[in-house]
Amino acid sequence: MRIFSTWKLPDHVLSNLEDNGFDVVQNDTGDLLSHVSLRERCTGFDGIISLLNDRIDRGIMEQNSELKIVANVAVGYDNIDVQYAPEIDITVTNTPDILTAATADLTMALFLSVVRLTVAGDRFMRERKFTGWRPDLFVGMDLQGAVIGIFGMGKIGRAVAQRMNSFGCKILYHNRHRINRENESGAEYVSFEDLLTRSDAIIVLSPLTPETRNRFGNDEFEKMKDRAVLINVGRGPIVSEAALVKALKSGKLSGAGMDVYEKEPIVNEQLYGLENVVLLPHIGSAGKKTREDMFALAAENVIAVLSGKSPLTPVK
Ligand code: GLV
Repeated sequence: MRIFSTWKLPDHVLSNLEDNGFDVVQNDTGDLLSHVSLRERCTGFDGIISLLNDRIDRGIMEQNSELKIVANVAVGYDNIDVQYAPEIDITVTNTPDILTAATADLTMALFLSVVRLTVAGDRFMRERKFTGWRPDLFVGMDLQGAVIGIFGMGKIGRAVAQRMNSFGCKILYHNRHRINRENESGAEYVSFEDLLTRSDAIIVLSPLTPETRNRFGNDEFEKMKDRAVLINVGRGPIVSEAALVKALKSGKLSGAGMDVYEKEPIVNEQLYGLENVVLLPHIGSAGKKTREDMFALAAENVIAVLSGKSPLTPVK
């Protein structure tokens, strides 16, 4: 059976697939595939290993008439037509759990760099502006006692809550449903409205769904506390970048940290010009071992499904 991987697989992952008798074609150019190249190259496969920026739509599924599995190397899967896939018996899998810690760590790094102004401080040093200690230099938010609102309390949200606890923060969260009490790590479940009005910083960690798309816009920023902070490590289209720029420019928000963007890789040009924003290139899960494990899990899902077994981590 034939597998197409849109990115070069780690050697041991490739060997595992080949040892299991699969014929693997991979994009080993080191460049991401455009949708046009994907359409050209990916026909006649039984399994696809995809990245989160490969749009696996109806067309791609249909031109692979034997396709049984799309294994996404990501926890999110908004790039795949998951409504259509089951209609033609295609299993879709993702890579949850193994990237939880790495993504929570990155969320903390981004959050800390925004609220304690470390990136701005670094820029200041490199511009040779440091003339000595001053009481008014890069004064940021105290974490002890700060109220942190987590939007999207899945596994990553919970791992962030645990980390925030050790900084002495008070945690609120909003989620589609309240989670089991024993998993709350002391966080308080609140309405979306309360999350907006009570948090000193809101951390967006939810998946992109029709309900979360554009969830943070002008009205929501208006309701947030004055000088609050917004961090987005979920998906770009959950936050309106135009509204965010407006809230930052007016001083309503004091800062923002972004790992994801509305129209990746395009970033609202005005964000580049704002001092109080830290921009990262979608690196939430970019831990060395985590990344290898993500590819390995995607391959295991392919092997399972194409051997007639249940997938390890199906979506939904
Ligand atoms: C990263 O954004 C992922 O969904 O794994």
